[in-house]
Amino acid sequence: MRLLRQTILVSVLVILFHAASVVFAAAPAATLTVDAAHPGPRISPTLWGIFFEDINLSADGGIYPELVRNRSFEDSEKPEYWSLQTSGSAKARMAIDETKPLNPLNRRSLKITMEKADFGAVHLINGGYWGMAIVKRAEYRLSLAARSDGSFRCPLAAGIYGWSGELLAYGEFEGVKGLSGDWKTFALDLTARGSDPHAMLLLGMSPPGTIWLDMVSLMPKKTWKGHGLRPDLAGMLAGLRPSFVRFPGGCWVEGDELKWAYRWKRTIGDVAERVPLWNIWKYYATHGLGFHEYLAMCEDLGAEPLLVINCGMSHRENVPMEKMREWVQDALDAIEYANGPATSKWGAVRAKAGHPAPFHLKTMEIGNENGGPAYQERYALFYDAIKARHPEIRLVADVPTEKRPADIVDEHYYSSPEFFMVQSERYDKYPRRGPKIYVGEYAVTQNCGQGNLRGALGEAAFMTGIERNSDVVVMASYAPLFVNANHRAWNPDLINFDSSRVYGIPSYYAQKMFSENRGDVVLPLQVACRMVSEGSTSGAIGVGTWVTQAEFKDIKVTRAGKTLLACDFAHGTKGWRLLSGDWKAQDGVLRQTSLADNVRAVAGDKNWSDYTYSLKARKLGGAEGFLILFRVQNDQDKAWWNLGGWGNVRHAIELGGAVTGDVPGRIETGRWYDIRIELQGGNIKCYLDGKLVHDVNHPALKALYASASRVDSSGEIILKVVNVTPADEATEIKLVGAGRVEGTAALTVLTSASPADENSLERPAKVAPVTRSVAIPGPTFPDTFPAHSISVLRLKTRP
Ligand code: AHR
Repeated sequence: MRLLRQTILVSVLVILFHAASVVFAAAPAATLTVDAAHPGPRISPTLWGIFFEDINLSADGGIYPELVRNRSFEDSEKPEYWSLQTSGSAKARMAIDETKPLNPLNRRSLKITMEKADFGAVHLINGGYWGMAIVKRAEYRLSLAARSDGSFRCPLAAGIYGWSGELLAYGEFEGVKGLSGDWKTFALDLTARGSDPHAMLLLGMSPPGTIWLDMVSLMPKKTWKGHGLRPDLAGMLAGLRPSFVRFPGGCWVEGDELKWAYRWKRTIGDVAERVPLWNIWKYYATHGLGFHEYLAMCEDLGAEPLLVINCGMSHRENVPMEKMREWVQDALDAIEYANGPATSKWGAVRAKAGHPAPFHLKTMEIGNENGGPAYQERYALFYDAIKARHPEIRLVADVPTEKRPADIVDEHYYSSPEFFMVQSERYDKYPRRGPKIYVGEYAVTQNCGQGNLRGALGEAAFMTGIERNSDVVVMASYAPLFVNANHRAWNPDLINFDSSRVYGIPSYYAQKMFSENRGDVVLPLQVACRMVSEGSTSGAIGVGTWVTQAEFKDIKVTRAGKTLLACDFAHGTKGWRLLSGDWKAQDGVLRQTSLADNVRAVAGDKNWSDYTYSLKARKLGGAEGFLILFRVQNDQDKAWWNLGGWGNVRHAIELGGAVTGDVPGRIETGRWYDIRIELQGGNIKCYLDGKLVHDVNHPALKALYASASRVDSSGEIILKVVNVTPADEATEIKLVGAGRVEGTAALTVLTSASPADENSLERPAKVAPVTRSVAIPGPTFPDTFPAHSISVLRLKTRP
């Protein structure tokens, strides 16, 4: 009996405990209140777009499906990416030749000289971009231009071979035998009898004889919409449902020097007359994807084109003002090419290229990331010429303009996930007068591997702020878009591919979720949620400069009266990690004499916390002041006190990409400053010459970031919620003034076990969104947003 009573008691306690825990778990920690009765600003229909830069082999070796690399032999004075193989007693050599070009713009061709031999053959081989992706039963067009001196008397055979030597396709060019000295073009249609993602092209010939070849091209016949783009990559773009495409760059438009600047007129017409151009991202671009093809791609994507035109400025040189006319004319002619009637000069060229109808270019960006007085005066030239002839064209400027107005200003951000979380409020209090904003490039580039979930969370948090403020921010695009995984000039990139495979990083899905669920009008939203402290409050110390020479001495770190580090530099720079710059320990000081940016030297232990860091610093020359590093975990996860930053006008703490405690300030040359940083828990105190300059706390982040919108046509309410914490966030959602809410809603969630999770060529959808239907009991309902997640909830309402 006693035992039974005890058992009952235990059972009751267990039931009570469970009941309590259910109530506890369901008690929402956060509340999202959507005011559906008082809609806010309209959401720009062109809010979410893409930025296509020819970077990382995005065009050649990417979406432009040419399988042959260096098809026109223009890449250098050597036949790059081509090799010659002989068999038997055959002997042959190949060389770049400029004696009789295919046309005046295509200067180089390949000359193959075969000596007389008893037996054997000569093979010219091209492996494409790390292998040609050949697919069984798919059709390919092989074409080339050839000439000879009459000595080439054999047929020219073509074979596509798999990596292991299997013959996948074969054909012979008719009429090559007995070629004269004039260039002739030939084409062969080949059908593959097998598949291999790493195939190669072999052109076979028998000695003796001499032949010149040019424009050797192998193109798959199946392209996206039949318009010449690689279907899987173009399909990924279409999946983003972009409302606009900014193209063709980026730094690629500027070029390092003016001779490498992108000029659209050199990218149209016969591909054999498009001169390949050295790309700042370290390869030659054929311009197979030229201005016309970009416009056609925009049209096929249903997206508005946004052309970035070079404004007469490269990274290192500017076009003199008196020579700017030609560059401004380029902009006017680009508009005419895109929009002019087929009877106009450039409209006729477009019509001849197969597109008599206009392409509807409405927006043009003058330059990329250019600024300063040189930009202001050049922008004015473009503005005057374009607005006089085409007042309907919206002009995007790279910086706020001074001499002429801008319709839109382009802002670029590359930083940490936490920076973007903090910046989610950037536009909430933004001035509503003045030009609109285009966030033309943004991406988490720190602590994100090759694109992980945490990066996507940071960007998505920022995007909720963009959407909420779409009256100010009218366009936004992630950057960069593509990377051929074999040529990663920038990291991370939204869409990764090789010759046959493709995947989107988690940020791809974040972009897709926002774009597919845009809504037409903002609904005001209040988020009540807990704050979380992100980032490390411990770490090593360091010193650095930005375009400045300086010296540092008496560096000391103490904690609770104990010295952790004291440097007199008697033993050189021992114990210091010199990350960049020119550092020398001499006469008791650590001296930095390079004028590079982001120059750093670090020392100490990354587990140090709650310490006082003191030193003396003296500026020797250059543009700014000092960077005093603390809480250094690694090259990316660090904090610094920036003294005399931003051109020697401000002092501020830069922590996890966020700038805090910003005050006006300047560092003089030649005088020693006393610097002290005191760290206690999350608190940071910074003293300059004994005077407290900053007293800030480690920035706390919100657990949840959200935006709400409504679709005009269906009345659906769309709620986007980003949970950046490692815990599920139980939330109460209140829809005020929403009318009747239907009983089920579609919920799409992007999440994964770890915020460090990434997709890969092998596991392309490890982190991918999942959509399901959820029950909605009424206008107020509980929901739990999973740890590390982006959720989009589409709720149907009736008045
Ligand atoms: O997106 C990569 C590069 O970043 C772009 O070329 C340039 O505009 C920016 O600096």
